[in-house]
Amino acid sequence: MEKRQQLYRGKAKSVFATDDPSLLVMLFRNDTSAFDGKKMEQLERKGMVNNKFNAFIMDKLAQTGIPTHFVRLLNDEESLVRSLAMLPVECVVRNRAAGSLSRRFGIPEGQELNPPTFEFFLKSDELGDPMINESHMATFGWATPEQIEQMKELALRVNAALKDLFAAADLVLVDYKLEFGLIDGELVLGDEFSPDGCRVWDRNTGEKLDKDRFRQGLGNVVESYEALGRRLGVQF
Ligand code: C5P
Repeated sequence: MEKRQQLYRGKAKSVFATDDPSLLVMLFRNDTSAFDGKKMEQLERKGMVNNKFNAFIMDKLAQTGIPTHFVRLLNDEESLVRSLAMLPVECVVRNRAAGSLSRRFGIPEGQELNPPTFEFFLKSDELGDPMINESHMATFGWATPEQIEQMKELALRVNAALKDLFAAADLVLVDYKLEFGLIDGELVLGDEFSPDGCRVWDRNTGEKLDKDRFRQGLGNVVESYEALGRRLGVQF
């Protein structure tokens, strides 16, 4: 497998073509951004930690029958993935109130959400990723009603698998963001699952072990990501 030209450079990851049109290389960079790119920093070792964290979670999800784009780790900061036609939406599942849900509805941080909430946001940096509903998605063609149902079903299956995994390590999976894409019409989990895109708290101390450490200037960002990974069984 030969790595070729860069196809896309996001805020924290880059994607490269390979000599096989069905496969891509995903590079996890040390760049860390928050508040729609208004806060940006390089955090040493973050690329490696997130790459290995993501590989571990994607493997776990595949073991429970969830289709993902992940193929294998290539090196410390790169993974091989299947090429997807990404849907322009982000799916957020929440087991506890935090972040934009707390701000939007005035729900205290930490309140249990039963059943978990499920939300769609439009992927658009210019618009600040606005929240959207199923009617918007149908009217503007961002996803078909069938794809919407499949995203919900897969996101809730991810939740069932990961909630238990995290709980077994005395961790609370507060919320997370997923992105999906299509291969030959099949809906597949894409992008990444890392502490950059989820919230996780220590069940006993409430300590935040995710990107809120960066957003809120709490320090020890990568150290916390790594400690979180080790508790789940990730080998760095
Ligand atoms: O900001 P908000 O509370 O809506 O975020 C919910 C979850 O989705 C958080 O875990 C956050 O890290 C993640 N998220 C993300 N990328 C975005 C928006 C949210 O990874 N563009």
